[in-house]
Amino acid sequence: MSSEFAVELRDVVKKFITPEGNELSAVDHVTMQIKNGEFFSMLGSSGCGKTTSLRMIAGFEWPTEGEVFIEGQPMGHIPPFQRKVNTVFQSYALFQHMTVAQNIGFGLEMEGVEKSEIKKRVGRALEMVQLTGMERRQPKQLSGGQQQRVAVARALVKTPSVLLLDEPLGALDLKLRKEMQLELKALQQQLGITFIYVTHDQEEALTMSDRIAVMSKGKVQQLATPVEIYERPTNKFVADFIGESNFLEGVIKEISKDEATVYVPVLNAELKGMPMSPDFVNGEEVAVSMRPEKIRIVEREADGDTLFKAKVLNSVYIGSDTHVYVDMQGARLKVMEQNRISRLDPSSFYSKEQMITLLFMPENTLILKKG
Ligand SMILES: Nc1ncnc2c1ncn2[C@@H]1O[C@H](COP(=O)(O)OP(=O)(O)O)[C@@H](O)[C@H]1O
Ligand SMILES: [Mg+2]
Repeated sequence: MSSEFAVELRDVVKKFITPEGNELSAVDHVTMQIKNGEFFSMLGSSGCGKTTSLRMIAGFEWPTEGEVFIEGQPMGHIPPFQRKVNTVFQSYALFQHMTVAQNIGFGLEMEGVEKSEIKKRVGRALEMVQLTGMERRQPKQLSGGQQQRVAVARALVKTPSVLLLDEPLGALDLKLRKEMQLELKALQQQLGITFIYVTHDQEEALTMSDRIAVMSKGKVQQLATPVEIYERPTNKFVADFIGESNFLEGVIKEISKDEATVYVPVLNAELKGMPMSPDFVNGEEVAVSMRPEKIRIVEREADGDTLFKAKVLNSVYIGSDTHVYVDMQGARLKVMEQNRISRLDPSSFYSKEQMITLLFMPENTLILKKG
């Protein structure tokens, strides 16, 4: 292989003219390098440019600016069938009047591959997706999950070095979707080929990916591993979009190496030893971000240092967790507690107006640009 990267987007822009006659940058100066054998996801809400990015890799669209590289080669206007990638579409786009085997072998037949060779390769592809024995069925005689696997087998039969998947599990119900997530991930690891996966579902991206590009309005907001994205979001958008976050306003009082002391007016306190990236300055107004599950409710007196008083506004039982909404001198926060014990006893809940003490661990409290 000629390049360390399976796919690379270098400063790619894609502009469309909308039906209203306006120019729209669907993809806006996107740069990303996808490594060989990686499970890479593009994650973002509807309209952020995921499908357009994928279509430019596949060759169905050409960049307005910038360049797409596959295995180190600039793709220019090379057509889709000459690229070493294959796509699994959102709607499986199976031929309804053909059998499973015919669906999977169709592309090879078009290429004039010999019948016996097609049979062998279709058999192997069916084995990969665990559908051996189903070759004579028609798509309508299969469950949603099985149809999805046929679509994957059809893409794999051409032995692409990169598989592009555009929300392939979107049509499945939650339970099946979760099963298929693990199955696809296992398949990717077993085959060792690069998967580029598009989804708007953060849990799906966190579950499956080696690395994720979080996108918004055509731009990459953060590109990192699932753990980094969740534990160290680089901006307010990512902290809010992935999981949940509480935000308090603060001002940086002191900086030492990669830690800071921040004054938070609503707490009337200085939070010390908070992790931060290097691009902050003393005196800067910042957002202090805390995940609901990382704030702890403790049975201790507030000390104004790491322990703070809060008033319970509401407590909501959701089975595995209890969500506690609190007020801290005008600031509203959400705190999550796992229900490790039975909550059958009504007095095990926090009641409205009850005063509680919250523990903020500095390492779980992030400083982000206010933006
Ligand atoms: N062929 C097109 N012509 C005009 N606008 C388009 C076209 N394709 C996509 N768009 C617009 O580009 C933006 C990004 O679309 P898309 O890449 O499909 O987003 P996503 O897959 O993240 O939902 C959207 O605003 C969409 O309406
Ligand atoms: Mg899309």
